[in-house]
Amino acid sequence: MAGIKNSESSRGGFSNKFGFIMAAAGSAVGLGNIWKFPFEVSDGGGGAFVVMYLLFCFMLCFPVMMAEIALGRKTNKNAVGAFAANGHKKWAGVGILAVLSGSLILSFYNVVAGWALGFAVEMFSGNFSVGSNFGEFVGNWHINLMVSTVFMFITIYIVAKGVSGGIEKASKILMPTLLFLIFGLMAYSLTQPGAIDGVKFYLIPDFSEITFKTAYGAMGQAFFSLSLGMGALITYGSYVGKKDNIVSATSMILLADVGIAFIAGLMMFAFIFSQGLQGQGGGAGLIFTVLPGAFESIGPVLGRCIGGLFFVLLSFAALTSTVSLLEVPVAYVVDEFEIRRSRAVWIVGAVIFLLGIPSMLGNGTVDFFTNFVHYHGSNITVNFMDFIEDLASDTFLPLGGFLVSVYTAYIWRGDKFKEEIESGNPGFATSFMGKYTIFALKYLAPFILGSITIITILSKFF
Ligand code: PHE
Repeated sequence: MAGIKNSESSRGGFSNKFGFIMAAAGSAVGLGNIWKFPFEVSDGGGGAFVVMYLLFCFMLCFPVMMAEIALGRKTNKNAVGAFAANGHKKWAGVGILAVLSGSLILSFYNVVAGWALGFAVEMFSGNFSVGSNFGEFVGNWHINLMVSTVFMFITIYIVAKGVSGGIEKASKILMPTLLFLIFGLMAYSLTQPGAIDGVKFYLIPDFSEITFKTAYGAMGQAFFSLSLGMGALITYGSYVGKKDNIVSATSMILLADVGIAFIAGLMMFAFIFSQGLQGQGGGAGLIFTVLPGAFESIGPVLGRCIGGLFFVLLSFAALTSTVSLLEVPVAYVVDEFEIRRSRAVWIVGAVIFLLGIPSMLGNGTVDFFTNFVHYHGSNITVNFMDFIEDLASDTFLPLGGFLVSVYTAYIWRGDKFKEEIESGNPGFATSFMGKYTIFALKYLAPFILGSITIITILSKFF
């Protein structure tokens, strides 16, 4: 198998640091940046949400990301095995939580990724009105079933090919292309009439908008977007070479992810305001309702091409994320139950696909899944997909992050963590950033993440 040289085992591994960075950035950059971030900002009141999100990313997620990658590389194991390594069997439960979160996230993520694929076809065929008929599109379960089946098949195919052959190769080509297109679209969006009001909404924070709900939304978004708190980066970290510098890798992954979310947000709010669609509520349909109109404004032929290409690349960005989501439970099954990768991928993929069917049917097709839960705290009713998203990304991920930091700082212990991050970057632990990282894992992250998780859970009931 190619790439073995780095992992020193038969599990496979990235062929070099660049391959790892591209794959991990591919995991991080996805629907979270382009689909979820704009509607979270819109629902969370604009600039104030953006500021909180950025603070969480740099102050909290950076140390947690480093801890996850270090943990994976040190143990050379999947999420469950990594926690249980070195005699900490009881901690395997945390890894199981990670596998569960990843599977839940993939179940609905695959459905949204299917929408992106469906929209690529619609744009190429010039059907821009699909944007204003978004409700009809997602309510059509035949189409949904078809596109999400296709998407899951592609994900399974890539994961089955293994670490360097599938995941790494796809990421290296597609990520830069997407970045290029988003840059272009952002520049175009800023030339539209009224765009400046969108930019203001996005960039000028109104701190009176900050509530607990926006804070935990920003926290959940930061974790989701950076693929943290569910073992994806533990698993990817286990395929990284000992000599690679994980500090610089972490910085690059973080900057790539935050940078792309930021540009995508700018583009979206410029388009939203220039089309007069502000204040209509965001939600899961935001990019799907706003962007087709924007592409139409480019012109009938060029708009079709750019729109189609955009959704194709969005699907690819989603693909490098679904691949990492599927890799977590697959690596667990392969390592711990000694099932062949090619078989494990199909079994796990099929189960998760089935788990996603209620999300697919909860957009008007089946009433039970459409009005799935009524939260007492906020007095709203949400559909199955929103329920799973809320549970997995806003609750389980910060909880996972909390457990990762407690584990790294107190169970695995600071010294071993220091040793691991210094491998490939000697002297880091005593630098300012190194000291901050250790402080954050010991005190800041456990405190903030722990309290946010507890209040989030309580807020659902009271
Ligand atoms: N970070 C991915 C995105 O932004 C989603 C994801 C979450 C992937 C958790 C892996 C793990 O789209």
